[in-house]
Amino acid sequence: MIDWNALYKIPLGLYVLGAKDGNRPVGSIVDAVMIAANKPCALVLSCNNASYTKACVEKRREFSLSVLPKDIDPFVVANFGFQSSKNINKWDCVNFSELNNLPVLPQALAHITAKVVSQYAFESNTVFIAEITAAENVRDAAGLLYEDYRNSFKDDVIKSFQQHIKERTNG
Ligand SMILES: Cc1cc2nc3c(=O)[nH]c(=O)nc-3n(C[C@H](O)[C@H](O)[C@H](O)COP(=O)(O)O)c2cc1C
Repeated sequence: MIDWNALYKIPLGLYVLGAKDGNRPVGSIVDAVMIAANKPCALVLSCNNASYTKACVEKRREFSLSVLPKDIDPFVVANFGFQSSKNINKWDCVNFSELNNLPVLPQALAHITAKVVSQYAFESNTVFIAEITAAENVRDAAGLLYEDYRNSFKDDVIKSFQQHIKERTNG
């Protein structure tokens, strides 16, 4: 028996995953990230197999992570987590800069870039093992946890996405 309430006890942060589709920046929200080694510095990322960003990471073998702060605008999570880069240029809707030619959010707590060295596909997800190519500490503040999202932040994210769709529909 697998009780998800037990699995939710493993703390996870929230990140904007950035990648490139040709010259076009793409991205999604991810929580499934952990530091996996310190020699070389490496991390593990798990992407949903339906994610367009996952397909771009698989092709280009590199990605960025922006570590989200607790005070992030809920729209950032809605923008990157509720729609697909297949049809939308998500980075056009936020300010961004680049690290190692990959998009990162200026309001993040930290920016990380990594290159994929191995991967394993489950039915639902693909796990990427990646060597860290850069890690910069932007500012010190509390990070947004997946638990914060599930407990309360999700309502604000849904509201901001509904508002965004209304504005987009009304031109
Ligand atoms: C709180 C939250 C956590 C998420 N965690 C992950 C994750 O760990 N891995 C993943 O691939 N998708 C995750 N997603 C889903 C993707 O962000 C979402 O499917 C996104 O629309 C994919 O966009 P893309 O098609 O442009 O890649 C999460 C979404 C939310 C809102």
